[in-house]
Amino acid sequence: MKILRAKDYADMSRKAANIISAQIILRPDCVLGLATGSTPVGTYQQLIEWYQKGDLDFAQVSTYNLDEYRGLSHDDSQSYHHFMRENLFDHVNIDAAHTHVPDGSNPDADAACSAYDQAVAAVGYPDLQLLGIGNNGHIGFNEPDDHFSKGTHCVDLTESTIQANSRLFAHADDVPRQAYTMGTQTIMAARQILVIASGKKKAQAVYDMCYGPVTPACPASILQLHTNCVVVADEAALTMCP
Ligand code: F6R
Repeated sequence: MKILRAKDYADMSRKAANIISAQIILRPDCVLGLATGSTPVGTYQQLIEWYQKGDLDFAQVSTYNLDEYRGLSHDDSQSYHHFMRENLFDHVNIDAAHTHVPDGSNPDADAACSAYDQAVAAVGYPDLQLLGIGNNGHIGFNEPDDHFSKGTHCVDLTESTIQANSRLFAHADDVPRQAYTMGTQTIMAARQILVIASGKKKAQAVYDMCYGPVTPACPASILQLHTNCVVVADEAALTMCP
């Protein structure tokens, strides 16, 4: 695990965008695993800026997002389908047919999840998987548990995740209680992993991810076993790290 220190959120975003850009330049038809949430917004903005300057071309890029709330239509403004269009896809020359997000609108969880897993496997898994980290150490929606998850599956969100995500909804009761998420094994199959973290609230999770025991109690800790994992975190998120 390589840890890159960033000054602040803007610096973290620029460093992360540089790593993603390098991947796109080195392999224009690369497969990117993408994340939603607050942390990657600045990274996506930076990628859009470089695209607008003519430095990046998404024409052949494919993307697979980590997760989606169960029960939301693709057009729901809280859905991750919508988030990705708003924050990245609508602003670059990516082919919409090359973008993939688990189908939260399919109530058949087994069908939706196994179709997604097969699709990610069929393209040989992401060249680069971007991850945020939850305050409780979750990655995707893989919450602390007594075992590591495998493929894409349906999860019940924990109270701490519902509370953390409620900032984006009118009321905590509006936050969906379930989500479809890539499993830990699927995430670990990516050839490179890039974790981004910003802010004091992430300090404990970042410490546990990088220096704690490898345990499903902190799902992100498994990334210590990945052979090509880069963490880009700002000073605030690194306050507990040596
Ligand atoms: C989002 C995702 C989540 C977030 C995590 C951090 O697709 O998979 O694991 O990365 O909850 O969220 P933020 O960035 O909002 O702090």
